[in-house]
Amino acid sequence: SLYVYLFELNLRNLLYVIYFSKQFSLSHLTIREAKHMRKIAIIGGTGIDNPDTLKGFEKKIIETPFGKALCNIGTMSGNQVVFVSRHGVDHSVPPHKVNYRANIWAMKSLGTEEIFATTAVGSLNPEMKAGHFVVCDNVLDFTKSRINTFYDSPERGVAHCDFTYPYCPTLREKVIKCLEKTDITFHKHGVYVCTEGPRFESAAEIKMFAMLGGDLVGMTNMPESILAREAEMCYTNCSIVTNMAAGISPTPLSHKEVCDAMALSIKNMEKLILSFIAYEEPTEAKYNCHHAMQEFGGFKL
Ligand code: HPA
Repeated sequence: SLYVYLFELNLRNLLYVIYFSKQFSLSHLTIREAKHMRKIAIIGGTGIDNPDTLKGFEKKIIETPFGKALCNIGTMSGNQVVFVSRHGVDHSVPPHKVNYRANIWAMKSLGTEEIFATTAVGSLNPEMKAGHFVVCDNVLDFTKSRINTFYDSPERGVAHCDFTYPYCPTLREKVIKCLEKTDITFHKHGVYVCTEGPRFESAAEIKMFAMLGGDLVGMTNMPESILAREAEMCYTNCSIVTNMAAGISPTPLSHKEVCDAMALSIKNMEKLILSFIAYEEPTEAKYNCHHAMQEFGGFKL
């Protein structure tokens, strides 16, 4: 009868263990549902190289198979934030030499789920004027010399990634909602033409891009956006118009003009970045960026 007693005791203990572990996992779930820690990366383009708001962030060099990437890592509004300056802290890396693969790989290895990128752009669209913000929704890729995929080695094999909508529709909506709360003049749509640079365009090229449906011209969103999609992260862009494009502008273009115009918009962009990081309202997932490579077994670091 002692054996029977011990057996019952153990059975009761076992039931207790099951009961409490269920309670524990339930309360654990409730806590997670209350606040999901977003893992965000910000790519700062021209003029957004070193925002004041990053004070207290830890500078870390991340080693990747493609070289090193300098990341600033911190926490804001309870979310993990990684800041990467696309052209280096002193704007020393030209657009065609940016190590896009190292930057995107580093963000992925830090657990990033959402990337918000800023870019300076020229405008081909008379409605989009200097100082306006544009949440682009599509791309025309005119780059020439850049490695535009992670899938170029025998180990990774051949993969063709969907790119119908290059910018994550869910993240675009978040950015638009944030912009709606400000007095910044912005546009919800825009086709971004990515040129190779580092030169500005000819007047004839701009005329052609306009005929093809382009609204804005810049030098950096490709291959950044496709690499982010291949690495199964959400990516969106907010462009700041700094000048009218070549042949539309009455004067020759200059880098100084771009930087001077950006300087006027930096405060607005910092405000937008902060509000994007703090964004808490639920958004409907419209495209499953985090499984973009499912057909090819998923993206692996
Ligand atoms: N062309 C290309 N890139 C740019 C421009 C432009 O006019 N302005 C800012 N970045």
